[in-house]
Amino acid sequence: MKRNERLNELRAQAKLGGGQARIDAQHAKSKLTARERIQLFLDEGSFEEMGMLVQHRSHLFGLEKQKFLGDGVVTGFGTVNGRLTYVFAQDFTVLGGSLAEAHAEKIVRIMELAMENGAPVIGLNDSGGARIQEGVVSLGGYADIFYQNTRASGVIPQLSAIMGPCAGGAVYSPALTDFIFMVEDSSYMFVTGPNVVKTVTHEEVSAEELGGASAHSVKSGVTHFSCANELACIEQIKALLSYLPQNCEELPPQIGYTPADESRPALDSLIPENPNQPYDIREVIDQLVDESSFLEVHKDFAENIVVGMARLAGRSIGVVANQPAFLAGVLDIRSSQKAARFVRFCDCFNIPLLVLEDVPGFLPGTDQEWNGIITNGAKLLYAFSEATVPRITVITRKAYGGAYDVMNSKHIGADMNYAWPTAEIAVMGAKGAAEIIFRKEIKEAADPEKVLAEKEAEYAEEFAHPYRAAARGFVDDVILPNQTRERLIRSFKMLENKAVKIPAKKHGNIPL
Ligand code: HXC
Repeated sequence: MKRNERLNELRAQAKLGGGQARIDAQHAKSKLTARERIQLFLDEGSFEEMGMLVQHRSHLFGLEKQKFLGDGVVTGFGTVNGRLTYVFAQDFTVLGGSLAEAHAEKIVRIMELAMENGAPVIGLNDSGGARIQEGVVSLGGYADIFYQNTRASGVIPQLSAIMGPCAGGAVYSPALTDFIFMVEDSSYMFVTGPNVVKTVTHEEVSAEELGGASAHSVKSGVTHFSCANELACIEQIKALLSYLPQNCEELPPQIGYTPADESRPALDSLIPENPNQPYDIREVIDQLVDESSFLEVHKDFAENIVVGMARLAGRSIGVVANQPAFLAGVLDIRSSQKAARFVRFCDCFNIPLLVLEDVPGFLPGTDQEWNGIITNGAKLLYAFSEATVPRITVITRKAYGGAYDVMNSKHIGADMNYAWPTAEIAVMGAKGAAEIIFRKEIKEAADPEKVLAEKEAEYAEEFAHPYRAAARGFVDDVILPNQTRERLIRSFKMLENKAVKIPAKKHGNIPL
């Protein structure tokens, strides 16, 4: 099939998409070329290429007589759904997409333009890292890119798709960007590949096990989106962009919304009677946000917290929600890191935050303590505390201990805090509390179990509800679940011009 026919066919399949783009078996696992990727990503006919005639500069080690026009990377700009977007795509057919001086300069130029003109940069990465034949010059080229990634951080959205094997420097630039997308079975990310691993540590591991989409979406959390194929990956990037502003000076795009009946009666029966029984917080999210608008980020990593983009009455919001269906929604190191990073991203780009809280506390244990739950939990505390975007919390059930403070409490700057009647806001659950404060009485009782049950009931009566917090103004109102969407729409509207001055400083010192 000719290239143009193939592209048209893929484009047609993308349009059929409906969220996860379809792609037929013939193309499912075949890698696209750098230019095909760009053409599928940008609006038809909008691509303007830059530096196509640039040539590579090092002619050592077998490269004496060869000419690589473009030096292994296609760069330029175009539009995605009508909005200006800068893009680069590495060409694996040219020395494994390896990065050399001219290659790096082209990427840096795109990034500078993107920053000056306030539009996102999307990198379609497919590279074996620093070009070995160029030595230090290619290392310098990488450092130039890393520097630009860091300067652009928080100024314009930077998204990285991993479309093939990426090693060495090719993984550090994506790591400095906001979101990473990987393609299942054909993309890998590692600092050092399986051969080096075998030499150094004698471990035998395949490329897929070491750095495939599954390893990085489930185990390391390096990647935020794991996509079935390249076309699905490209569609997912476009979907994410639709929620984002072009730069930090802009508000996120708003799509048309016609007010309708906002009550959601299904929410009234969603929380189980038994407070220890799990439920899926995604069902709550789906009811609260505009229909089918929730785009989950980091879906397979630290599943005890759910984060993602959504729309509420046509406006972009970021959602952070404890997930009672996984580890009872407890906060641990990974979930704190995941949520903190997401909160900071939303705050960079003026995306208001909705927090759904049902958290029994921080996960206890040596593993957590020795690996730094203190520092890592503090990341989430810090991220919420410094965020100046509109912030609203809904406590659906448990809000215990330090986790009550951390999960966007009013004390750390939340603008509105609602609780459902099922909310329990206390230092800890009634049983644990009774065991500690009545230890002596229970131990000395003729029937310790009976006394424990009585004391537990006493504590629950006193604290397992939202009204003490509401009486202090820590909760603005106790609302019915079915009214929640309507209240959120009104409150976010009230907060749309929120402006907060932060104390003058160079930058804060988040506990990294
Ligand atoms: C020059 C390279 C290259 C590189 C691959 N090629 N990587 N050429 N510099 N870094 C060339 C290969 O020689 C080969 O050329 C072609 O690209 C395709 O590579 P294959 O190995 O055949 O492909 P594959 O089996 O798919 O393996 C891909 C790979 C592997 C996993 C990326 O090539 C690999 O391990 N490359 C080296 C990775 C690496 O160590 N990079 C340097 C990292 S240091 P021919 O002519 O045979 O087709 C670094 C420093 C930055 O990046 C520091 C940042 C902090």
